[in-house]
Amino acid sequence: MSQKIAIIGGGNLGTAIAQGLINSNFSDPSDIVITKRNISALKGTLPKSVKITDDNVKAATESDVIILAVKPFQVAEVMKAIAPALNKKQLLISVITGVTVSDLKEMAQIQLPVFRAMPNTAVAIQESMTCISYDNATDKQVQLVTKMFNTVGKVAVIDDKLMDAATVLGACGTAVAPRYIRANVQGGTAIGLDANTASVIAAQTVKGAAELLLSNNTHPEQEIDKVTTPKGCTIVGLNEMEHRGFSSSLIRGVITSYKKIAKD
Ligand SMILES: NC(=O)c1ccc[n+]([C@@H]2O[C@H](COP(=O)([O-])OP(=O)(O)OC[C@H]3O[C@@H](n4cnc5c(N)ncnc54)[C@H](OP(=O)(O)O)[C@@H]3O)[C@@H](O)[C@H]2O)c1
Repeated sequence: MSQKIAIIGGGNLGTAIAQGLINSNFSDPSDIVITKRNISALKGTLPKSVKITDDNVKAATESDVIILAVKPFQVAEVMKAIAPALNKKQLLISVITGVTVSDLKEMAQIQLPVFRAMPNTAVAIQESMTCISYDNATDKQVQLVTKMFNTVGKVAVIDDKLMDAATVLGACGTAVAPRYIRANVQGGTAIGLDANTASVIAAQTVKGAAELLLSNNTHPEQEIDKVTTPKGCTIVGLNEMEHRGFSSSLIRGVITSYKKIAKD
């Protein structure tokens, strides 16, 4: 029997998750209920048989899986309202940034399986990297949640204490990669390409390079070796970038972002 899923907070992420679940046939639209206070904004964005409501308690009561997708400052109020309606057979999943598994357990007030999922903005095109941590769940429940988030991209199950580190690579990384692409466009324009053509070449090249690593399951250096001819133009360019601190600046940026998350 398919799972009844309540998505509490039908914004960018909540809607993208609903679309992923439906497009991948993980869920029948009629098994999904999505909530929001201003429901008119949701009309027309999802198949008609998805239930749309502003009643969080009813949505939670009638579902097997509850996905929290409101903003961080809204979670306490939402959980206060729905906690009395939760039961131990349900799964509680939060995609809310900065809310830990232990915060969720405290807000739920009962011992139910609790998951935290951290996707990135590529969830909108079903190409997210989603990291998942959990407590009090069976292997079967972990498999189910992994399968759910596989509908919007790739999934890694990690320890909750690594979630900040995963956020830096997976969520902040969605800003770092475009900056790399933008620099390529700047360089490409300087050597004669128009900006539009340079953008397509740079973005598709990054996409292809990432796909090679994922499909071949290779170390990045193996793919680099394949394109660096001895005395060729690639290696001299790469070495010049390294002399200017290419890898070092990225590593330092990752560590600085991590320190900022830890501090806040
Ligand atoms: N977007 C991403 O790619 C991404 C990635 C990782 C994590 N996150 C996290 O995911 C969460 C949602 O992000 P988002 O970008 O989707 O934000 P968003 O577009 O602002 O969505 C939040 C939704 O929650 C609804 N909401 C607020 N209070 C509610 C309540 N009491 N009951 C029911 N619905 C309520 C809002 O609609 P109304 O105002 O009409 O109620 C809004 O549609 C955030 O915590 C964010 O940190 C997002």
